[in-house]
Amino acid sequence: MGFNVAIDGPAGAGKSTIAKLVAGEMNFIYVDTGAMYRAIALYLIRKGVGIEETDRFADECQGAEVSIQYVDGTQQVILNGENVSGWIRTEEVGNMASASSVDPAVRAKLLDLQRNLAAENDVVMDGRDIGTNILPNADVKVYLTASVEERAMRRFKELMGKGMDLSLEQIEKDIEERDYRDMHREIAPLKQAEDAVYIDSSDMSIDEVKAAIIKLIESKR
Ligand code: DC
Repeated sequence: MGFNVAIDGPAGAGKSTIAKLVAGEMNFIYVDTGAMYRAIALYLIRKGVGIEETDRFADECQGAEVSIQYVDGTQQVILNGENVSGWIRTEEVGNMASASSVDPAVRAKLLDLQRNLAAENDVVMDGRDIGTNILPNADVKVYLTASVEERAMRRFKELMGKGMDLSLEQIEKDIEERDYRDMHREIAPLKQAEDAVYIDSSDMSIDEVKAAIIKLIESKR
């Protein structure tokens, strides 16, 4: 069993930024589980499945095989042999991932992949249900969050930087909807694990959050 760090939290809380930095510093691998759900969402979109067509998710997702590879230390998501890492970072795919990840058949497709990675490697894994469901015995669990306004502003700046044109109001609305869906679904909803350390990063710098998590890891090693 590797040393396992689980970081859960809502969309835009900075999980991936922090998890990547922590993994780099500790020489662990970073596992982005959201990217796996996004790959399945991309598959469904390409199949012409609409976000409201929830009754098609279970059947249609059966044709999606997701795996990951590391290129220069960066996770790449492979969907049926194609590296789709460049296609999964849009709001459309993110919203579809939030909707389709509600389906137990979609979640079941990714369970073994996530658990095996953690069994074989020292990992920092981020997602929504890592500490509660995927790795209930993780060595360190963090619930990382920030206010909706702060998360929307961060995502707004990120998308602007990529030349995407979306209003702050629209992003805030999307985040609220996604929070609601992720927290209220029946299977593996987003919630803080009892033994997770709660970190609100609204008024913290990236370095401060990273240092707090590294301190937690070092206290357990
Ligand atoms: O972290 P992200 O925005 O890339 O995740 C996209 C969606 O995938 C998220 O809204 C819910 C789903 N997801 C999940 O259900 N469980 C995870 N462990 C990770 C993501």
